[in-house]
Amino acid sequence: MAEGPSQERLTAEGIIKIYTSMKVDAVAVAPLDLAAGVDILLASQKQGFPWLSANLLDLKGQPLFEPMRIKKVGAVKVGLIGLTGPLNSPPRGIRQADWRTLLPPLIEKTARQCDVLVLLSSLPPAENQEIARQFPALHLILSANLDRGNMNPQQVNNSLITQTDRQGKYQGVLTIDWNKNGKWGNSMDEELNTLRNRLGALDWQLQRMEKRVEPQLPEYLAKVKLIEENREAVAQKINALERKGKETGNGQASTSGISSFSSNFIPLKQSLPEAPEIRAIITGIKQQVNELNQKIVKKEEGLPFLGHDGCKSCHPAQTRFWQSTNHSRAWETLKKANQAFNLECLPCHVISNSEIPVNRNQLLALPKSLQTVGCENCHVGSGKSHAANPEQFHMKKQVEEKICLSCHTPQHDSHFNYQEKLKRIACPAN
Ligand code: HEC
Ligand code: HEC
Ligand code: HEC
Ligand code: HEC
Repeated sequence: MAEGPSQERLTAEGIIKIYTSMKVDAVAVAPLDLAAGVDILLASQKQGFPWLSANLLDLKGQPLFEPMRIKKVGAVKVGLIGLTGPLNSPPRGIRQADWRTLLPPLIEKTARQCDVLVLLSSLPPAENQEIARQFPALHLILSANLDRGNMNPQQVNNSLITQTDRQGKYQGVLTIDWNKNGKWGNSMDEELNTLRNRLGALDWQLQRMEKRVEPQLPEYLAKVKLIEENREAVAQKINALERKGKETGNGQASTSGISSFSSNFIPLKQSLPEAPEIRAIITGIKQQVNELNQKIVKKEEGLPFLGHDGCKSCHPAQTRFWQSTNHSRAWETLKKANQAFNLECLPCHVISNSEIPVNRNQLLALPKSLQTVGCENCHVGSGKSHAANPEQFHMKKQVEEKICLSCHTPQHDSHFNYQEKLKRIACPAN
């Protein structure tokens, strides 16, 4: 059965477009890449997109993607192998093979054709280490573990294992001074790398702090000052080390027949200039998602929420107060950003609560008075029953912190302080 486009599909197509315009040499299929189905990946592979996966097979046991490819960089031949991390429920028609059986012949064959052998892997950390211990022919494992963040290269057997943080927050740069011998020496200047990464992390924190809404608070100013001082100290140490390195000639190519490397992670700050062609693709995806989901909208009946219009007559003071807060405009905020039909944004910018989850179609089809962070997001209970019989059916008056935290997550509100913020939105007594 032909499936229409979905938000996931549009997003996947957009990401493929972006990678294509960045001219990437290889992308290993990770479990999340399959969110919109395997067909879209196979179609893009047909058009030349360099997907790699040695362990995703069709039901006949044939690989669905290229297991490996060889890329020539100057005089050096780089072999790239892809492995997909565990799929909880493989899509229909796909079987996931065990790397323990398929890797030995594949690595042997690829190693014969190349100088440097790289594995792109979304397998769990313990399995990547096991692979490194088992296959000395592997030089580099680039992993993709969502909760590990940036990882400085760690040597296991003859492989370096490293990765960058998720969501494109950093660009990982690994500079290799390659020697045919294929054995790693010590990192050129490990201390320097660690310091550079620390500097990147501090810059990132400062950038987040700058976005705060109440910059005058003394505790905020104190925090910023502390980070700035930290940053200055780290920057000075880096300077000193770099000067020392120049004097002693440290960091030059080694002549001892050993390969050396240095690595750093460059934070991709919002202040960095954007690539206009990529920005255009992203804006295009958002626009398409918005238009697509807008079309799906059907009027959804049967939600147990009453909406603020139904509370107003009996609680005029609280309703007036709530209208003065930005909670009442949370959906408008999305609309202004042209994201009012983005399913990734809606759950925190409209009605819903821990007792009454709202599904995708409902989210897209909410009536006006529920298109907001409303009374019933915070005051849990059945608004409809309460309005019909307030003495018998009560709403919860107190709003616990965990309710706020369901939306004010660190990712969307890096400085949530319950006591402080509660004061700003707590409705007045009559
Ligand atoms: C359903 C999600 C959700 C819940 C639950 C929620 N918030 Fe919010 N909150 C938001 C969103 C979204 C915004 C931003 C609205 C905008 O600017 O469009 C916001 C904004 C705020 C603001 C800024 C208000 C203003 O007028 O500038 C404060 C303060 C706040 N929330 C505190 C809280 C507290 C305290 C709780 C719990 C008692 C809470 N929020 C519960 C989603 C939520
Ligand atoms: C997990 C809940 C959550 C999700 C998902 C979410 N937001 Fe928000 N958003 C919030 C909260 C909470 C605030 C208020 C933050 C504050 O008061 O500092 C907010 C504030 C905002 C603001 C106003 C403040 C600002 O940072 O400029 C915009 C714009 C916004 N969100 C857009 C979006 C968009 C677009 C999406 C989807 C891509 C999205 N949000 C997804 C919780 C969420
Ligand atoms: C972001 C969360 C939030 C939203 C949204 C919200 N309230 Fe409240 N409301 C509170 C908090 C917090 C209190 C104070 C509770 C307490 O006293 O412990 C409160 C108190 C109340 C009270 C009790 C007042 C009293 O002390 O007698 C009523 C009634 C009330 N709200 C109605 C509403 C109505 C109606 C709406 C929508 C128009 C609304 N609230 C929206 C958080 C919220
Ligand atoms: C027909 C009038 C009426 C409507 C409509 C109404 N309330 Fe109430 N509400 C009351 C009365 C009366 C009380 C006091 C109940 C008591 O003290 O026994 C109350 C109390 C509350 C309280 C305090 C906790 C409690 O239940 O005692 C909250 C919170 C509240 N209402 C929220 C809401 C919200 C949210 C809505 C809309 C979904 C709403 N009310 C609609 C009459 C109403």
